[in-house]
Amino acid sequence: MSKALYPGTFDPVTLGHIDIVERALHLFDEVTIAIATSEVKTPIFTLEERIQHIQEIFKGNKRVRAIGFTGLVVDLAKEEGTNILIRGLRAVSDFEYEFQLANMNRAMSPDLESVFLTPKAKFSFLSSTLVREIASMGGELSSFVDPIVEKALKERFKL
Ligand code: COA
Repeated sequence: MSKALYPGTFDPVTLGHIDIVERALHLFDEVTIAIATSEVKTPIFTLEERIQHIQEIFKGNKRVRAIGFTGLVVDLAKEEGTNILIRGLRAVSDFEYEFQLANMNRAMSPDLESVFLTPKAKFSFLSSTLVREIASMGGELSSFVDPIVEKALKERFKL
């Protein structure tokens, strides 16, 4: 069975991330969404909340799992028994950072392969930071996030 790991901060998970998972499922039997604690980013949702959002969104799909992790993604990949990392590439601006990440990961774990998938064009400008900003100002979110996340954002920002 082919397995892939899709790591990220997912604060919050957006429709763009979900689009990438759906594309990855065309290539691999199982996709594990690995949610990093990412303390440097000071996420607005706790790790448990971010895991819960993703688990609820994919609850009908046995081929998708959501787990939290701290530490190196290369170590997690070994623990999970996969050498495939999925990353989304939204625009050329993502490339430099992703290239650096992929090569650092490869330097630490030579067998690791990073697979880059591009989301639908309508999600190419989307980011979790922009979603948080729109949410904090009471903007319309339904085109960018799942209703589960929209509700959680409204509660977080008391809208
Ligand atoms: N749709 C919408 N947004 C997307 C997207 C998509 N398809 N793909 C990426 N993004 C956005 C995210 O929302 C995020 O936005 P933000 O910065 O505004 O929050 C941004 O692109 C990138 O975030 P993400 O994909 O979550 O990656 P990240 O840079 O936060 O996380 C890790 C990177 C967690 C994978 C990386 O830091 C890591 O592996 N950490 C573990 C420690 C480690 O191994 N370090 C060594 C690495 S060499």
